[in-house]
Amino acid sequence: MKIFHIGAECYPAAKVGGLADVIGALPKYQNKSENDVSVIIPCYQTVFKLENHFECINFGKLKLGYFNFPYRILKETSGKLGFELYLIEIPELFDRPEIYNYRDDTERFLSFQIAALDWINGLNSFPDIIHCHDHHTGLIPFMKNYCFKYEKLKNIPTIITIHNGMYQGIFTFNKLYYLPEFDLIHIKDLEWGNCINSLAAAIKCADEITTVSTAYLNEINYSDNGLETLFQRMRHKSRGILNGIDLDVWDPKRDPMLDMNYSIADFYEGKQKNKEQLCSLFNMNPEKPLFSFIGRLYNEKGADLLYKAVTSAMTVHKDEINFLILGYGDNEIENQLKGLLEVYKNNYHVHIGYNEELAHKTYAGSDFILIPSRIEPCGLNQMYAMRYGTVPIVRRTGGLKDTITDFEDNGNGICHDQATVEDICDAVQRAVDLYPNKDAIGQIRIKGMNTNHSWEHVSQEYIELYNLIIAKRHEN
Ligand code: GLC
Repeated sequence: MKIFHIGAECYPAAKVGGLADVIGALPKYQNKSENDVSVIIPCYQTVFKLENHFECINFGKLKLGYFNFPYRILKETSGKLGFELYLIEIPELFDRPEIYNYRDDTERFLSFQIAALDWINGLNSFPDIIHCHDHHTGLIPFMKNYCFKYEKLKNIPTIITIHNGMYQGIFTFNKLYYLPEFDLIHIKDLEWGNCINSLAAAIKCADEITTVSTAYLNEINYSDNGLETLFQRMRHKSRGILNGIDLDVWDPKRDPMLDMNYSIADFYEGKQKNKEQLCSLFNMNPEKPLFSFIGRLYNEKGADLLYKAVTSAMTVHKDEINFLILGYGDNEIENQLKGLLEVYKNNYHVHIGYNEELAHKTYAGSDFILIPSRIEPCGLNQMYAMRYGTVPIVRRTGGLKDTITDFEDNGNGICHDQATVEDICDAVQRAVDLYPNKDAIGQIRIKGMNTNHSWEHVSQEYIELYNLIIAKRHEN
């Protein structure tokens, strides 16, 4: 089967968060089962772009309303990714250091989608399925179905995977003229809340909708993301498929970024060694339990609670614990957390920024990972943590709820119900109580390390879904 994934990020070419990890792994595993899989993302100014070789396989001019932007399709040539990677180069819009948060994001991602469809439209052989990810590619199902110039692509089924329904790619109808000409009878499919809503359009027009966990699917049907009634109406074509993790990248047995590799058989010694090295980087005492947080510093992730949670836990436990925070995001949260460096010199560190190597070392060297998210469609951190024998402390929501059970219920982690400072501190208290009991905590670590969240079977689940929608299209 010929599969095209289209999205805004793909590890290792361009990464902000978990979206990149998924688009960098799922295609690889689908390729292993004899499919022909390609990934299409915009060409940003990244280190990956500078350090790798690309061949220009196509070029043209895309039309965005009155504007014309030259574009080129660049194919990555090393073959080492495990799938074909195509970058759509639109220099005026994407030759910038960041991936998101520009004032012209609407123009940027709409141009990207138009260039992708223009290119696919000219191919000799079309994909059997187009798999879109999040709102950045949400207008593809609509344009493919109804724009006159993409008539030939009409019968290609599409699927939209929602990694985060909070972001929807909303813009006003003043920009309707950006879209290639389409049959106006379908204009309603673009609309939600009197605006053009890219995610809503995808939900309406894609053949199938998936969310990255089942619990999150239930949540978005009722939470106030603005789309809940639409989700309810589209329930018949929605399902949750829990993400996997890339075991080639995340394996303590052969991870080249660790100070010592280890497996279940010698995890005690392995983790200890990694913890000692990690603690020595930040002047911490490795005898004390190490709690870490890795991720974007946003309210959505509960990162705004960290400042108070850290200070309150440090007071209660009289500095007998270590905290390590890696991430970046909201300026105010960054500044608050940086402020604590002066207060806790020997048992606290915050690294502002994204550093893949430090993240790997932190998964291996920590005792506990805090994931107090308000919203977590899937969450990969708890899966990485478990793989490295680190105990996840999670708020019961979305994918966290689907993957972690509290150890008191014979589970693989520590759970709390609310994203509040109190709940986080209670969970930290339970972790501190558990810490000296090497047997009990060892059992939880082993349970985590034994959990299999590989993409192997998840990628198969997607293939079955593709087959199903292809068959449905043939029926009609
Ligand atoms: C988004 C979600 C996260 C999910 C990831 C990959 O980043 O916030 O929960 O794990 O996408 O699907």
